[in-house]
Formats: sequence, C-alpha cells, structure tokens
Amino acid sequence: MARGFVMATAAMLVLLAALVLSVALPRGAEAKTTIEPCSGSDSCQALLGYTLYADMKVSEVAALFAADPAALLAANALDFGAPGAAHRILPMGLFLRVPTRCSCAGGVRKSVGVRYAARPGDTLAAVADGFFAGLASADQIRDENGLVASAADPDAPLDPGQKLVVPLPCVCFNASDNNLPAVYLSYVVQVGDTVPAIAASYETTVTDVMNVNAMGSPVAAPGDILAIPLPACASAFPKSASDHGLIVANGTYALTAGNCMQCSCGPASLDLYCTPASLSGSCPSMQCPNSNVMLGNMSTHPTSGGCNVSSCNYEGFVNGTITASLSGGLQPRCPGPHQVPALTDPPTTVSHDSTYLPPLSAPGPAEAGGVMPEPGSTGSPVQGGPFTLPKVSTANGPAGSVSEAPSMDKPRQILSLFISCLVFYLQM
Ligand SMILES: *[C@@H]1O[C@H](CO)[C@@H](O)[C@H](O)[C@H]1NC(C)=O
Ligand SMILES: *[C@@H]1O[C@H](CO)[C@@H](O)[C@H](O)[C@H]1NC(C)=O
Ligand SMILES: *[C@@H]1O[C@H](CO)[C@@H](O)[C@H](O)[C@H]1NC(C)=O
Ligand SMILES: *[C@@H]1O[C@H](CO)[C@@H](O)[C@H](O)[C@H]1NC(C)=O
Ligand SMILES: *[C@@H]1O[C@H](CO)[C@@H](O)[C@H](O)[C@H]1NC(C)=O
Repeated sequence: MARGFVMATAAMLVLLAALVLSVALPRGAEAKTTIEPCSGSDSCQALLGYTLYADMKVSEVAALFAADPAALLAANALDFGAPGAAHRILPMGLFLRVPTRCSCAGGVRKSVGVRYAARPGDTLAAVADGFFAGLASADQIRDENGLVASAADPDAPLDPGQKLVVPLPCVCFNASDNNLPAVYLSYVVQVGDTVPAIAASYETTVTDVMNVNAMGSPVAAPGDILAIPLPACASAFPKSASDHGLIVANGTYALTAGNCMQCSCGPASLDLYCTPASLSGSCPSMQCPNSNVMLGNMSTHPTSGGCNVSSCNYEGFVNGTITASLSGGLQPRCPGPHQVPALTDPPTTVSHDSTYLPPLSAPGPAEAGGVMPEPGSTGSPVQGGPFTLPKVSTANGPAGSVSEAPSMDKPRQILSLFISCLVFYLQM
C-alpha cells in the first residue's frame, strides 16, 4: 500500500514535470485577441492598456508606441501642459491608456505599425512580454516579421539592430457600442482578473464585454486580450478635416490641430468640448469669424425672453487651418462655465486599486532610442531626444516578474490537477 502510494506519487510528479514543461514553453502562444473585419482605408482611434514594466519617462512610453508624449498624457487626464511633462518619470506597474490608430489591412483592423529595433540582449519574449507588456506575443511578432527557425526560441537573443514590426491589438467597431459613441481599449487580462471584475471596473456589463469579444462564456485567461468599450464623445467634423472622426473617451482629453486644440469629454455630459490648448507653441489667434467670441468660449446676454447665448465652436482642422463657427440661441437660463475633466500630475507611485486607472484617447507619432518612427509619418514635433529603454531583467528584479506574468496561472492549474489526481488516488 505504502509503496503503491509512493509509486503513484512519483508517477504524478513525472506527469507534473511534463505538464510544466509542455505548458510553460509556448509562452503567450494561445493568447486570444479580438479581430475586427473592416473594409476601405479609413483609420480609426483606439486605446492600448499598457502596464509599465519599469520606471519610464513619459517620452519613452510614447516612443515605444510611436505616440506623442502630450497625447499620451492627455489620454490619461495627466497634466500635458506642465513644463517638462514629457520628461517626467512614471512608476513601474502604472497602468496607462496609450492612444493608437488602427488601419484596415487585408480585411482586418490592424495597429498602424509600431516598430522596434532590437538592442543587444533583447529576446522575442522580452520584447513581447516585457517591453510591450503582453500586448503582442512572441509568436505574433515572429510571424509578423517572417522570422524562421533561428527565432523559434522566444528566449534566443535577437540580432542587435534587427528591426521588428510589433503587431498590436486594435479594434474600433465603428466607434460605437450599443449605438452610443465608444472608444475601444485593448486590455491584457492579468493574473487574478475575472471578466465580471473587469466589466465592473470599466462601468460596463459582462454581457457587453462578451458580445464585443464574441465570447461563449464569461471566462478569460491571463494573457488574453479583451476589447473594452469606453463611453466617449464623438466629433462631427467634416470629412475634409484631418481630424474627422475624432473621438475622446469620457474623463480624458485629446490634442488636435497640431496640438493647438484640446478636446475633452465629460465628466457630466458626453458632448465633445474643444478649447485652445494650454501647450506652448505657435498657434494662430482663435476667434470666431465676424464676432468677438473666442474659440471654446461663449458670450451670454440675459434678455427678457431668456439668455441669448453665442458660442464659438471648433469645427475641425481643414487644410492646416483651424475652423470655427458661431452658434447660438435663446436658452431659458445662462449656462455656467463648461465643466472639464480634472487634470492631475503624473503619479510617482502606484496605488493598488489603480489597476484599471483613468480612461483615454488620440494619435500622433514620435521617435527615439530603440524605437523607430513609423515610415512616412508626418506629425507632431518630437519631444525628447534619444534615450535608452530600461532593460527587461529576466534574472532578477520586478521586471522579470512582469515578463513571467502571463503564464503565472499555469502552475496554479497544474497544482489543482495534481490535487485532484491525489484525491482521486486516495479515494481508490
Ligand atoms: C460598421 O458600419 C458598417 C457600415 O456602416 C456596417 O456594415 C458594420 O456592420 C458596422 N459594424 C459594427 C460592428 O457595427
Ligand atoms: C463619465 O465619467 C464620470 C467620472 O469621470 C462619471 O461620473 C460618469 O458617469 C461617466 N459617464 C459615463 C456615461 O460613463
Ligand atoms: C470667455 O469670455 C469671457 C467674456 O465674455 C472672458 O471673461 C473669459 O476670459 C473668456 N474665457 C476664455 C477662456 O477666453
Ligand atoms: C443674440 O445675440 C446675437 C449676437 O450677440 C445677436 O446677433 C442676436 O440678434 C441676439 N438674439 C436675440 C434673440 O437677442
Ligand atoms: C484645401 O486646399 C486646396 C488647395 O490648397 C483646395 O483645392 C481645397 O479646396 C481646400 N479644401 C478646403 C476644404 O478648403
């Protein structure tokens, strides 16, 4: 009896070891991502949920995703107008919403190419799980770049200087959810997350998350990528405007018109509201034609019949020109000043209940260090010079735990399998 138990235990340990090996090797290979069919050539706005793998400057995070540092801050309702904001250091573990654009290629929505130039010691696994925090898997990067046999091992070093296109998840679903304006956030499921908890933290429902992601059951595994709809304010700029289709998530800002305008959404209403941006720069004077009302402002004249309100509204960036129009009418009462989302200073520490943090939106490329600019991209001035990305340490330190995170639940599954084997054996 005792010997039988020992042998069975040994057999189970062998099984356990085999399982650990078989499930631990194809790291991230089975991560699920929502795919959106599309047609035409319009690009659209989306958000990436990104958890910092190390302390990083705002400009470093922005460069990694070919985004504009100010747009990145704006999308997180962080003070983008503060002097030196792009050089502020953000703490490891901070969750950010990174503005991105999706194009339509081969009939599916694709992230507009984010490129990464490998540095000495980089591996596919470090790039995928570390630098990009699970937004792309090693397999996806390998396939996207047509890498073959030599790159089969995600832990094999890449050639320094090797240029990689990093395919990132991207969906827009017509910028609407249940017929209301929405921006979609690609969220990498973390260890310990449940679909109900994710839905609750984004103030949506499990049913909505399941519908958007075409899920058969409300279950997601760590490393899966879910598209989460965020309520948003949509613009109605004409097709001729380069910012046609601008959409801003509730509680956040987007910069547009060459960073001369800032548009915000919420907190009280989901009407897009744009004013001249508080960033320094050479922006033209902004006044509505044939009036003395400034762009983003209104003039009010109480009359016997109510309040005569004229407001000067931003109407899009057309041919490099800020367009505005005066609208007005009689309202029962004079409106108070417009409410806008509060801007906060970039945090220096991460609090534990901030995993999902504030909402976001907006595009704009940048370049630096180990990151290559998107070819042919024009766009906002590059802030910050060359930099070196913090290394992903696989040997020790917290960065290593980041790169391990997506597979951390597997030992747990194996343990429960082991326990059920044991229980089964003991019952016999
Ligand atoms: C998006 O709009 C197109 C046409 O306007 C429509 O065919 C498609 O079904 C819509 N997709 C979604 C997800 O609403
Ligand atoms: C928008 O965000 C504010 C908080 O910033 C919240 O009170 C409000 O309910 C949100 N609106 C929607 C439609 O989600
Ligand atoms: C808006 O207009 C009022 C006067 O009509 C003025 O006092 C105020 O400073 C203006 N605000 C902005 C942001 O231009
Ligand atoms: C409201 O004000 C505008 C200009 O400020 C003026 O042209 C218009 O006649 C006024 N309308 C009413 C009903 O007073
Ligand atoms: C933009 O400029 C071009 C020429 O510079 C002109 O042909 C076109 O009509 C302009 N478009 C708009 C919407 O003003």
